[in-house]
Order: sequence, then structure tokens, then C-alpha cells
Amino acid sequence: MANGLTLADYIQQLIPSCQPAKSAGHAEAPANIALVKYWGKRDVELNLPLTSSVSISLANHGSTTRVTEAEEDGGKDRVILNQQAVATDSAFYHRLSKFLDHFRPHPKFFFEVNTSNNIPTASGLASSASGFAALVLALNDYFQWHATDKTLSLLARVGSGSACRSLWHGFVLWEGGEQDDGYDSFAKPLDSQWPDLRIAVVLNGAEEKSISSRKAMIQTHNTSPFAKLWPDCVAKDLEIVQQAIVNQNLALLGETAEANAEAMHALMLSARPAINYANTCTLNSKAKVQTLRNQGVAVYYTQDAGPHLKLIFASENEAAIRTAFPEAEVIAPFQAIK
Ligand code: PMV
Repeated sequence: MANGLTLADYIQQLIPSCQPAKSAGHAEAPANIALVKYWGKRDVELNLPLTSSVSISLANHGSTTRVTEAEEDGGKDRVILNQQAVATDSAFYHRLSKFLDHFRPHPKFFFEVNTSNNIPTASGLASSASGFAALVLALNDYFQWHATDKTLSLLARVGSGSACRSLWHGFVLWEGGEQDDGYDSFAKPLDSQWPDLRIAVVLNGAEEKSISSRKAMIQTHNTSPFAKLWPDCVAKDLEIVQQAIVNQNLALLGETAEANAEAMHALMLSARPAINYANTCTLNSKAKVQTLRNQGVAVYYTQDAGPHLKLIFASENEAAIRTAFPEAEVIAPFQAIK
């Protein structure tokens, strides 16, 4: 870290102690989709972003997590993902276990983390965001920290940047912050409801992503000749999207979110070597959206670090979207959350 503090110091200042206060901690957190993307870090260890970003959470679509002490004395954490034990030599296991290192009551304490996602894992559908948010919330329950939302967001950000936005439903703003210590880089909910807004998830293949977003961000900013243009592009899009949210202006929201996503992917394509998350289905889905728009249906898309699209539209066009994309899952982000 730039100011000489370690990540362990950063976390220690946020939470008082880690002593289990109940037999297990439970939590849920929604996935979130960025409407203005986070793509680039100013501090890799602390996951400090180059810019702010804005997202919409996906209601009941996300992660459910239970945390407790591992029963068998295997000298290792036990991680269960969607009812299957995660291999201890996998990248996912290492990432989680490294994060858990910061919360062990003593060095020989090992966790059992049992998590289920009702969205495809590691395919650019923000499962790491809901996963780390649910994990931090479950730890908060297990240790009874009674931490503030700000603290929980500051902790979740270290697990996965976009996880700091998955602590709330609805629209969420992640203020990128300026401080080297990272304590001013956390998310907060925007006070806007938009009951007619719909998001449809169009799956374009279920394979794991070719390169992690973490690696891809670094590669983009280290090698793209256009990387320096990104912060200004985001600053402008953030203003417009927040205005569009306040005014419930779907065209402005959709056009800006779509353009922002395409700018992010253009940056990636200009990295050396190029990073491409799209496949043929992605391109066909984009063409279909364009055709619908030409027919007068107000629908827009965004794409993250994977081949899938998330469509943005209003409830009045739900039937048209379901006809054009029969496989897509339609989500009402502002529906009553169970
Ligand atoms: O938080 P990460 O490392 O999974 O990165 C998220 C990157 C994008 O999903 C592409 C953009 C975003 O703001 O969520």
C-alpha cells in the first residue's frame, strides 16, 4: 500500500475482534450489474478503483452463505459451492482462503464456508460480487461485529471490488475515493425507486471466463494506448446515468449504460494482447437488440467480463423481450424482496 500500511492493518482498523458469537453466521446478497463500469485499479492490493461506478442489484438473484468453524481438523478451510466441495488447489479456493486469513480468531482456526449462487459462477455475471458481499455479511453475523454498512462495504471491496456494491438492493453508487488508505472508497444506495425497470439476463454460453476481471483490468491499463481516456469517459457517464435515474429516463439510462459497456470492451480489445469476452452468440444477441430498437422497442444492453448480456428495458416491453429472447430470465429489480 502506498502509505506503508498493510492490508491486515486496513482490516484491523475496521473490525474490533474475531471471536465466534454463535454457532454459524448466515447471509444473502444480491448480484449487481454496473450501469457505469468499474474497470481499473489505483491500488491492486486494496482493490481501490480508478473511478466511481453505479450499479443496479438483481433482487433475489445472488448468493446465500453460511459460515462456521470447520469440523474436521484438516488444517484447511472447507469451501462448498453449490453443494460441491471446492478443490483446495483451485484459484477460487485460494482467493477465498486468503481473504479468510484476515478473520481467523487464531492461526489454527479454519472456516467452513457453504455458499450457493442462483446465477452462473465466474461467467461475468457478478457472482463474485454477491459471493464476497454475502461472505462479509455472514462473518458479521458469525462474529456479531454489528458493523456499519460503510464498514461492511469497505470489507467486501477487498474481496472483490464490485462486491462493495452488493450490500444493497436497487441503485448503488460506489464512490471511488481519493485516499491512499482506501477508507473513502465504499458504496452507498441511491435513494431512487424505479418499479417499472426490468433487467433480462441473456446467457451466451456457460463456460468459465477466459481471463479473470482482476487480471484483465491490470492488462488493460498497463497496455492499452487508450486507457488514459477511461476516467473522463466514466466521469461523464456517471453524471448522465445518475440524472437518468432521477428522471426515470430509460433512453438516456440505456444508451449511456450501453455506450459505457462498449467503451470498456473497446479498451480491452485495444490491450496487448487483446482481451475479448464476446463470442458469436454475444454478437448475435447485440444485433437482435439493435433490430428490436429499429422496430421501436426501447431496449438496451450492457456486458461485463463475460459473454452474457443484460438487457435494460421497461415493463411495457416485457412481452416483446420475452418473445425475442425466450430463454432470458427477466428480473424486476424493485420487486418486493423476500
Ligand atoms: O469486482 P470484479 O473484480 O469482479 O470486477 C467487476 C468488473 C465488471 O463487472 C466488468 C464491472 C463492474 O463494475 O462490475
